Amino acid sequence: MNPSPSMVPARQYRATVLSNRPVSTGLIHLVLECDAPFGFLPGQFAMLNFTGAQRRTFGRPLSILAGEGLRAEFLYRVVGSGTADLSRLVPEDEMTLLGPLGTPFPDRPEDRDAVLLAGGVGLPPVLAWWDRHGRETDRAYFGGRDAGDLPRELLPAAWKMSIDRRQDGDDERLFEGRVPELARTDLAATGRGKSFVLSCGPLLLLQAARRLATEHDWPCFVSMEEHMGCGYGACKGCVVPLQPQPDSPDPWRNATCCQDGPVFDADDIVWNRIL
Ligand SMILES: Cc1cc2nc3c(=O)[nH]c(=O)nc-3n(C[C@H](O)[C@H](O)[C@H](O)COP(=O)(O)OP(=O)(O)OC[C@H]3O[C@@H](n4cnc5c(N)ncnc54)[C@H](O)[C@@H]3O)c2cc1C
Ligand code: FES
Repeated sequence: MNPSPSMVPARQYRATVLSNRPVSTGLIHLVLECDAPFGFLPGQFAMLNFTGAQRRTFGRPLSILAGEGLRAEFLYRVVGSGTADLSRLVPEDEMTLLGPLGTPFPDRPEDRDAVLLAGGVGLPPVLAWWDRHGRETDRAYFGGRDAGDLPRELLPAAWKMSIDRRQDGDDERLFEGRVPELARTDLAATGRGKSFVLSCGPLLLLQAARRLATEHDWPCFVSMEEHMGCGYGACKGCVVPLQPQPDSPDPWRNATCCQDGPVFDADDIVWNRIL
């Protein structure tokens, strides 16, 4: 693998909201215009914060969906007060953005096709990788809760989709079940040579992605969306347990999701310390 694509330096931007609208029942697409050109690598994230009285001590980390020229795009779900306030922003509102932060997904190894698995709000980093590196022989899968949860206007036509529950009238091409089952079924039908796996979404999806990769002896990289505080390595609020260094007496070593991640080689993570 080539795990070290060249990084864009992080900086603080002032940003104006261009649009902030739902693209499915649960997902909101936020488009910002920054006060300077914004660059990033797929898998990196930014800390978004408000201005004025709404400003938080810590911003909220969101993976970068797209960024070109002055535009920066995100996709998020409302889970608490920060994302609820975010959902109330309207065009012309101002906010701040610190980024791009963190370690990106690796570039494509020359001789391998990609197998991409994303679930829910895990879509942005995986879709960003596809937009930059995807090719016809890659396979990409996205899973939502139900048909209304699928952000169809953002999903490329080549992606296959699964939903947890099928209802009357749902598109029959949708796979009923979880993303890893969809991937297994499709890969078994189409066959696969040398590949590598990239994944972002709930922890159970990341673990299943790793199992799939292990069965085929493929490399697997996952983006961990741990809870965060500062976003820059100071508070240690985002620890991810990794395999110990050789000869270390410790059963694991602590990495930070914000600086050492959010993308990790799935084989480096001590999964039974997380789940
Ligand atoms: C590197 C990274 C990338 C992320 N990318 C995205 C993204 O692209 N889109 C998106 O919607 N979300 C993403 N998240 C999660 C997002 O940061 C949180 O949902 C958000 O910070 C919650 O803020 P809040 O104030 O609304 O909720 P809070 O009031 O802080 O929390 C509300 C509830 O959500 C839970 N929660 C908070 N943070 C997380 C988290 N990281 N993972 C799971 N549960 C959490 C809390 O335990 C609580 O139950 C990412 C997180 C990280 C670390
Ligand atoms: S969020 Fe503070 S160390 Fe990672």
